[in-house]
Amino acid sequence: MSDLFIDLTAPNGHKYKQPRGLFINNEFVKSQSGETITSINPSNESEIASVYAAGPEDVDKAVAAARKAVKDPSWRDMDTNARSDLLFKFAQLIEQHRETLATIETWDNGKPYQISFNDDLGEVITTIKYYAGYANKIHGQVIDTSPAKLAYVVREPLGVCAQIIPWNFPLAMAAWKLGPALCTGNTVVMKAAEQTPLSILYLASLIKEAGFPPGVINILNGEGRKAGAALAQHLDVDKIAFTGSTATGKEIMKMAAVNMKNITLETGGKSPLLVFDDADLDQAVKWSHVGIMYNQGQVCTATSRILVQEGIYDKFVESFKEYVSQASVVGDPFKDDTFQGPQVTKAQYERVLSYIEAGKSDGAKLVTGGEAFKDVGGKGFFIAPTIFADVKDDMRIYREEVFGPFVVISSFKTEEEAIERANDSTYGLGAALFTQDITKAHTVARRIEAGMVWINSSNDSDVRVPFGGVKQSGIGRELGEAGLEAYTNKKAIHVNLGSRL
Ligand code: NAI
Ligand code: MG
Repeated sequence: MSDLFIDLTAPNGHKYKQPRGLFINNEFVKSQSGETITSINPSNESEIASVYAAGPEDVDKAVAAARKAVKDPSWRDMDTNARSDLLFKFAQLIEQHRETLATIETWDNGKPYQISFNDDLGEVITTIKYYAGYANKIHGQVIDTSPAKLAYVVREPLGVCAQIIPWNFPLAMAAWKLGPALCTGNTVVMKAAEQTPLSILYLASLIKEAGFPPGVINILNGEGRKAGAALAQHLDVDKIAFTGSTATGKEIMKMAAVNMKNITLETGGKSPLLVFDDADLDQAVKWSHVGIMYNQGQVCTATSRILVQEGIYDKFVESFKEYVSQASVVGDPFKDDTFQGPQVTKAQYERVLSYIEAGKSDGAKLVTGGEAFKDVGGKGFFIAPTIFADVKDDMRIYREEVFGPFVVISSFKTEEEAIERANDSTYGLGAALFTQDITKAHTVARRIEAGMVWINSSNDSDVRVPFGGVKQSGIGRELGEAGLEAYTNKKAIHVNLGSRL
């Protein structure tokens, strides 16, 4: 059994026991094929550990466990106060293990420890608590038709939910998906991203202790094309929820058609940020920085396309460059003053570098960065924060999601032009706009094709507020009360009180 756990010491000296198995039926087990995936520390490219990777046969086992659990009275018929308590207990355990979870997140993903500890783990705990609070507040409805009929609606769980999560916010994305699925009485098979397999297993180790019945939450690592595809195609899975690239989202949608699964997709973006002439320039600059450079630019809602009105364009570009150079401290993610760690993997690092080359060869003006950052021991997937200005709408760097510390800036003349160009994208996830004019702010916000618009800020999402996209940025919503919609059916029950044949 020792093979299923390994004692590790993280770069910050934190010691802990890392689970390596697949978590099925409240136990860690090996994959049936014995296959593993290796997790890499993106700061120095060293191997951290290898963990078991699920194949289709393991997916079958996990789905069977989840199916059994969804029918088990101990979960299905659980008093909703008890279900709420269970989720609160889970949140409490996460709080107790916060340092370990934040350490693993930073080690495996590369995000700064302060961010992992405060933001990611803060979000995980808040999300689980938020949905714990909902567990005993899920209501149906009575619909008046006529005295001869009592019609009422009950909200019931969808059943077995497969959840495929990405590597940019591993634990937070897990919490966004577990919270609403569990508080509504579903069971879950979650697959983590192969780039960041470690923190999710430690989270899994708290599930049994919290008191969830076996099979309610199953956690797998494994490759997208194997374990992920097996879940998306599985005939005994009722729902698939996915966060990741638009290309993979489309494939999942096709696979999910096999048994007409309910789907929720959160995919890519090229979110615009508009700065009007009358904006508070200092605030626009600072929020623009957070909006794209946070989390190494690996954020689906990152406002990666900045459009600035011509009257303040030059001033904005100059101030933004200046602010990025002082605020985006690149370095070892375990150091306190680091704002930007390495990109998550070599593949992502090379992808960003290839967009830098595309920007240069397409003739965009490089304002700063534009190269790998080699001052952190000479190793690791670090990239200098990169700004391109005077970018044209038909350039690849203007149109495609880069997912790195990489931003394009362009100027516009009129409000109408700003809206038109903001909407000229296949994506529609987030958008931000800066103006002091209250009428302009709300008018433009209404006309932007996006799931979320931030007025005078960027990316300050909140667990209580719906999150999701339009166009090719996704289907459905997560978070807030809207998150419950994604995990319940409304069943109509008609009671005949006197209509006689
Ligand atoms: P991806 O979308 O391929 O991977 C995300 C998740 O989907 C992972 O768990 C992966 O194992 C799984 N997956 C991959 N192929 C699958 C398949 N055929 N069937 C079922 N599951 C599958 O994204 P990837 O390759 O890691 O990153 C590529 C680009 O995607 C990034 O550069 C970025 O632009 C975008 N992305 C967007 C994210 C977001 O938050 N919206 C998160 C991660 C990536
Ligand atoms: Mg890693």
